[in-house]
Amino acid sequence: MSLLIKNCKEIHVCGDHHFGPLYGLDMADPGNIKDAFIDVRHGKIHDYGSMETCPSDSFFDEVIDATGSHVLPSWVDSHTHLVYHASREEEFVMRIQGKSYEEIAAAGGGILNSAKKLAGASEDELFEQAWERLMETIGFGTGAVEIKSGYGLSIDSELKMLRVIRRLKQESPITIKSTFLGAHAIPIEYKSNRQAYIDLLTESMLPLIADEELADYIDVFCDEGFYTVDETRHILTKGAAYGLRGKIHANELANSGGVQVGVDMNALSVDHLERIETKEIEYLKGSNTYPVALPSTSFFLNLPYAPGRAMIDAGLPLVLASDYNPGSTPSGKIPFILSLACIKMKLLPEEAISAVTINGACAL
Ligand code: NIG
Ligand code: FE
Repeated sequence: MSLLIKNCKEIHVCGDHHFGPLYGLDMADPGNIKDAFIDVRHGKIHDYGSMETCPSDSFFDEVIDATGSHVLPSWVDSHTHLVYHASREEEFVMRIQGKSYEEIAAAGGGILNSAKKLAGASEDELFEQAWERLMETIGFGTGAVEIKSGYGLSIDSELKMLRVIRRLKQESPITIKSTFLGAHAIPIEYKSNRQAYIDLLTESMLPLIADEELADYIDVFCDEGFYTVDETRHILTKGAAYGLRGKIHANELANSGGVQVGVDMNALSVDHLERIETKEIEYLKGSNTYPVALPSTSFFLNLPYAPGRAMIDAGLPLVLASDYNPGSTPSGKIPFILSLACIKMKLLPEEAISAVTINGACAL
């Protein structure tokens, strides 16, 4: 099966014959080609280039005339929590009335509220809801996605979430990576003995998850009111023993030290970064850890935006992702992320596209 897409106004190339991330200012110059063709054989891109070198229509089973169109790769959304049961619209109203995300969480709302809702849902119910969300994001152009657990917070419910993600992997047409986020919050019943929950996570949940090969990565919410730097280091060390690399929630609510522990532990990514400063940007330089900004969380929670412009200017391979979840971003619509990145973080359109295509793929 061969396909020719010809007369494209512009093709977005994501780095010319280049399979790593785009760093810093190179993100603005990914090697796009105007007036171009793409030659696809057996579902893979075989060749592309200027229309001057376009092969004849007669060699192809199918020809698409893309006159006037930009042709882009699909979006790679490297940070979502799209398996959850029911929305949290009551918290939306509480925030309008003046309560902060932290206050709602401390009162047993937030992540714990989602965990309560999820405990009563069956695997089938969760799958049906997540499937609908996934199909909607595909409709907005997403072609690969990471999905986290973390609304379980018990052995049964964390496994239930991860099995739902496995089923999404098996049944959906797109690439999915799965992340174990048992360290998303401390369950109420462990409030006075957090170490007991951390032990449950590392000594009981992790071996079961590894046994069923349910996770590709491990995540910790390393932030004020959630997990400390030392706890994060401990959990990542335990995860690494099972071959799980970290993808850390860091510096959303405070300057938490999450970036430093992520880099020190060779995490694949540190995500959120709304509260990072110059020293965290310096720490990320030369590391193997991708900085992931989640601008729709800033939009939805009225937080500062991660300093995306400064990270690119410092030469970092910035990534953008949706954070699709019921509490801080009830949407996986990447075109909106691109708009926020340009309007609020001052990224150039090409930089934003690089951040959610080639660089997103690297962080996945
Ligand atoms: O990435 N910050 C931690 N976790 C999610 C939000 C979880 C929730 O509020 O349900 C996030 O924003
Ligand atoms: Fe998140």
